[in-house]
Amino acid sequence: MSFLSRLQWRYAAKEFNPTKKVSAESLQKILDSIRLTPTSFGLQPYHVIEVTDQKIKERIRPHAWDQPQITTCSHLLIFCARTDSLHRIDQYVEVASEGDEKRKWLLEGYKKMMLGSSSKMNIDWASRQTYIALGFAMASCAELEIDSCPMEGFSAEEVDKILKLPSHMKSVVMLPIGYRTEDPSRPKVRFGEEDLFEER
Ligand SMILES: Cc1cc2nc3c(=O)[nH]c(=O)nc-3n(C[C@H](O)[C@H](O)[C@H](O)COP(=O)(O)O)c2cc1C
Repeated sequence: MSFLSRLQWRYAAKEFNPTKKVSAESLQKILDSIRLTPTSFGLQPYHVIEVTDQKIKERIRPHAWDQPQITTCSHLLIFCARTDSLHRIDQYVEVASEGDEKRKWLLEGYKKMMLGSSSKMNIDWASRQTYIALGFAMASCAELEIDSCPMEGFSAEEVDKILKLPSHMKSVVMLPIGYRTEDPSRPKVRFGEEDLFEER
């Protein structure tokens, strides 16, 4: 199946078969796609929590409009945006230089450039990067024929409390994954090409 036909196949599943679990191997592929997501400056300002504990899912569900996806999914991926950009910049230099002092020195210019933009690295910026990772995860699920449902319909404040997130992390979007209980009942609603695109 081509990438586009997988995208035709996928839909925002409203309920999952609670007895059908995503394998560790497939989950790893989805996490790899999140890890390979391109981000501004390469700073990956997010953290993804994979919730499998049914008790945690049940605590989250009332704060997510009681949507059944939360408790029926195999894994609930919670995408959190990070706002600790100064720490992230240092961490980037450490990882990119692999601790090598000369490589660190070569990265000084890049570090200065990142620091020069750090005032813009707020929660909105981090959330935008996080949504790119969400897109990659959804595409990866589609390729693996794993269902998913992107979800913004929840109280981030309450979810952050349940997960005891540190102050530099905020949940922004969730992606329950698993296997559909039924095929979508309606065709996809998409605006026409003339609405979405234009050539100049
Ligand atoms: C960022 C985002 C947030 C969404 N939040 C919810 C949600 O809270 N609950 C839900 O059932 N669907 C949610 N959706 C699913 C959309 O309604 C759905 O993707 C859209 O109608 C297109 O349908 P399709 O994904 O089945 O092609 C969300 C989608 C996105 C991208």
